[in-house]
Amino acid sequence: MSDAMPNPDAMSRSKAAEAAEDIGSNNSANPTLGEIIDTRFGRRSFLRGALATTAISAIPGYALLGEAAAQGASKSSFDFEEVPVGGDEKHHVAPGYDADILIRWGDPVLPGAPAFDPMKQTAAAQKMQFGYNNDFIGYLPLPGAANGSKHGLLCVNHEYTNEELMFPGLGGPQQHKKNMFAGMTKELAAVEMAAHGGAVIEVKSENGKWQVVPNSKYARRIDADTPMAITGPAAGHARMKTKADPDGRRVLGMLNNCAGGMTPWGTWLTCEENFNGYFWGKQDAHPEAAKLKRYGLPNGQYNWGVYFDRFDLAREHNEVNRFGWIVEIDPLDPASTPKKRTALGRFKREGAGGITNRDGRYVVYSGDDERFDYVYKFVTEGSVDTANRAANMDLLDKGTLYVAKYNADGTGEWLPLVHGQGSLTSDKGFASQADVLIDTRLAGDALGATKMDRPEDIDVNPRTGKVYLMLTNNSRRSAQQVDAANPRANNRFGHIIEMTPDGGDHASTRFGWNILVKGGNPADPKHEASFGTGTTGNGWFGMPDNGAFDARGRLWVATDGMSKKSAGRNDGLFAVETEGQLRGVSRGFFRVPEGAEMCGPCFTPDDETLFLAVQHPGEGDEEAGEGTFEKPATRWPDFRPDMPPRPSVLVVTKRGGGKIG
Ligand code: FEO
Ligand code: CA
Ligand code: CA
Repeated sequence: MSDAMPNPDAMSRSKAAEAAEDIGSNNSANPTLGEIIDTRFGRRSFLRGALATTAISAIPGYALLGEAAAQGASKSSFDFEEVPVGGDEKHHVAPGYDADILIRWGDPVLPGAPAFDPMKQTAAAQKMQFGYNNDFIGYLPLPGAANGSKHGLLCVNHEYTNEELMFPGLGGPQQHKKNMFAGMTKELAAVEMAAHGGAVIEVKSENGKWQVVPNSKYARRIDADTPMAITGPAAGHARMKTKADPDGRRVLGMLNNCAGGMTPWGTWLTCEENFNGYFWGKQDAHPEAAKLKRYGLPNGQYNWGVYFDRFDLAREHNEVNRFGWIVEIDPLDPASTPKKRTALGRFKREGAGGITNRDGRYVVYSGDDERFDYVYKFVTEGSVDTANRAANMDLLDKGTLYVAKYNADGTGEWLPLVHGQGSLTSDKGFASQADVLIDTRLAGDALGATKMDRPEDIDVNPRTGKVYLMLTNNSRRSAQQVDAANPRANNRFGHIIEMTPDGGDHASTRFGWNILVKGGNPADPKHEASFGTGTTGNGWFGMPDNGAFDARGRLWVATDGMSKKSAGRNDGLFAVETEGQLRGVSRGFFRVPEGAEMCGPCFTPDDETLFLAVQHPGEGDEEAGEGTFEKPATRWPDFRPDMPPRPSVLVVTKRGGGKIG
């Protein structure tokens, strides 16, 4: 990367996938709001305001004064002592808390799973063991448990794989860069496929100690070969049919499942993000080449298409249309078929923040994680039946998908992605609702949605109903492209937008919005960051990615992309005030070991337990030949010379008991 500052985008495989597309794939003519910003405050006064904020932040001692003020205000909703920033081989949690390993890559999930042997990995073993790169974590209290906050099911996404860290002898840099997959084999690709997907594990706390319940009847591994149903308006459409599935209703596996959500009826929504990276082959030969390009295809992050026809675009045109969806899974029934819910659209879906609207309809918010891509919501047609779980099981097959437009005056509109409405008509290339959904990005282009700075996770505060959108960064936004909702050029550190549905109605097509924080160091004018007064040197962050609310309605933000080099600190978990005088104040609670990203914050209903996911520990400087199986940046969490680093789920509890934070 040629940025003057170290570019945080190249930190992980998921990042690499996005960096490979460099300027994003959205070349539509939709205006960036920079073109209409003058309608609100004019660029000059807007910039003046930004500079003023920066100037205040730059006064020496500002952070310390702020800290004292925050303490004096005694209004902080958080009461923990911050973990100091930095970066080393270990994880660090705020004083007074324990952060213990719950389950690691390779640990048994299914009964009879063999012990993890990194030197002799097989797909058969991996299919029974915990997968790689845990991301989203959802917690479902076990029905009938004596205490639902101490005994439940964890639903965990396994987003992607790092061959160079997983397998001995492949060397560096990463297989998809320069190395041309020199060391890859069909057997290793099959292990990778088995390490993708997700896991359901039963967990229980006894005498203050959480453990995975062995041989649980709920235990499940889902991988890139698990049979899934395709449901909703695109199911059975000609573009969903393949040689292996002439009906277009059955697909094998889910890929690159990043963030997600849990529904009030106890299902797991898991989101396929960078699915493009798995499809191989010449784009020119494909009948839908232009549409593929809008989805960043072909990409070639993985070479599975060499071994398995369905991942080769030249040999199977339509398989790619069957990825990029939201998948609904019933964790209480390990024999149930996961469902790809096409009504919610197809893009690099990042998260599924949900809420039951006051009229009973369910609403799911999602981001499309790409530079200059869009924010979506889906409103069901039917209502949640709180008395009858079974009645909700296909609720997500019918409803309306919307894409967001952020106006410069702080209002916003949800534009319906409905065939026949607006420009979503046959003469514009949308012959049916199936086309609108398969080509969701193109439909968003056609409606003039707002191009955002990589929308990642999106979470709804269960107490206030306000919606929080993580925009992780966009180093490719130029000064001419800034707008009110994406106000920084070369946005290296990202920001968080707060959205308030009109009248508290999540089905409304209108909303208000404002910026909660702008990432980066508020004491460094070059960053043009903004946090609430009182945010310390340990509290600021950049690259917000996964978010979560605890039961008390407090926002926790996990980051992806900070390192000692890019930010003077490794990624971590931060607690952010959203209301009152301290709004925008952030505090550092946890930081990850070298090379890792922070994922999956998830609280039990009593807020006494926090589950965290540490993803891709050990990634290192590829140019220096580091970040490999033989030479990882850390051997966390085992620290054994014969064991590679292992992505793991941690369980955080307060020493002596009590609520987190
Ligand atoms: Fe998988 Fe956009 O993070
Ligand atoms: Ca993410
Ligand atoms: Ca979330």
